Amino acid sequence: MKDKILVTGGTGYIGSHTTVELQKAGYEVVIIDNLSNSNREVIDGIEAITGVRPDFVEGDCTDIPTLRKLFEEHPGIKGIINFAASKAVGESVHKPLLYYRNNLNTLINLLDLMPEYGVKGIVFSSSCTVYGEPDSNPIDETAPIKDPTSPYGNTKQISEEIIKDYVASGAPIKSILLRYFNPIGAHESALIGELPVGVPQNLVPYLTQTAAGIRKELTVFGNDYNTPDGSCIRDYIDVVDLARAHVVAMTRMLDGKDTDAIEIFNLGTGRGLSVLELIDSFERATGVKVPHKIGPRREGDIEKIWADPKKANEVLGWKAEVPIDETMRKAWAWQQRLPKN
Ligand code: WQD
Repeated sequence: MKDKILVTGGTGYIGSHTTVELQKAGYEVVIIDNLSNSNREVIDGIEAITGVRPDFVEGDCTDIPTLRKLFEEHPGIKGIINFAASKAVGESVHKPLLYYRNNLNTLINLLDLMPEYGVKGIVFSSSCTVYGEPDSNPIDETAPIKDPTSPYGNTKQISEEIIKDYVASGAPIKSILLRYFNPIGAHESALIGELPVGVPQNLVPYLTQTAAGIRKELTVFGNDYNTPDGSCIRDYIDVVDLARAHVVAMTRMLDGKDTDAIEIFNLGTGRGLSVLELIDSFERATGVKVPHKIGPRREGDIEKIWADPKKANEVLGWKAEVPIDETMRKAWAWQQRLPKN
């Protein structure tokens, strides 16, 4: 058995898929989650996939005694992957203090306790949102960090700075910051996937709910952008590819292969896809039509962004591999297992 890893937010979308990949790589996983945006049945799904039930602590990482108790009851944790955060861009505009308190206090508490409990490395879940609207695409890790377009995006930028300053202060820890592009899809077993609460804000869950008849019609938010078909372009990355990158990053740190105390990687496919192209991919892959119409632009949307994944490919030794049609098929298989209501 390899080292023991703490996955905060591990019953969430990316956290659950990462737990599966960590277990497949031989790591022992402890999950802490306050279940504010997920449910404990996800643990059953993880166990059904890997045959190993991760230890689960229902708790809030903003509470230091909760974290102390976890580290004392689960000795030997060597690494942390921190997913625990509020992540709805729109909500963050209306509830900024909730986002700053939750996302920043969670990180500060984890960093503060790591040296005391012998935790060597932390992988931080960051986002391409730190780049804002790029000056050009594809975008690599040297691209300028732009003014945040939401409190959510600002918590990611501030979190990166907190980690950098803490490491620079001499803290005996290391970190890898992973800047995700647009995670989509589900596990091939359809036993875990994205569980949006309420009306989905993100494209793919809204698309699959429309295909399932839960939503009447998908609105494409604008087709008058400066792109080939007028709709926005993003770098959609399969959630399992993304999960595997976390395992590679954690192993790199624990095996001492990282060359700097802090390393930063863009996690994308390097392929830009428009909204209309993604709809086409879904319909081609599943044979299911998605009723959709063109509507007005959504406030705050950037026009186009996709990754230059060269550094992750060559330095981290990771590459996105799942073809987009396969990702769409998995997203659809997952949607079909969910209740219609
Ligand atoms: C993608 C494209 C929409 C819904 C957000 C966060 C980012 C990250 C990923 C956390 C856009 C269009 C969407 C719909 C549409 N989250 N769209 N109709 O906005 O790129 O990124 O999620 O880290 O931080 O900002 O993702 O899926 O919301 O939108 O046309 O009903 O789909 O305009 O062009 P986004 P998204």
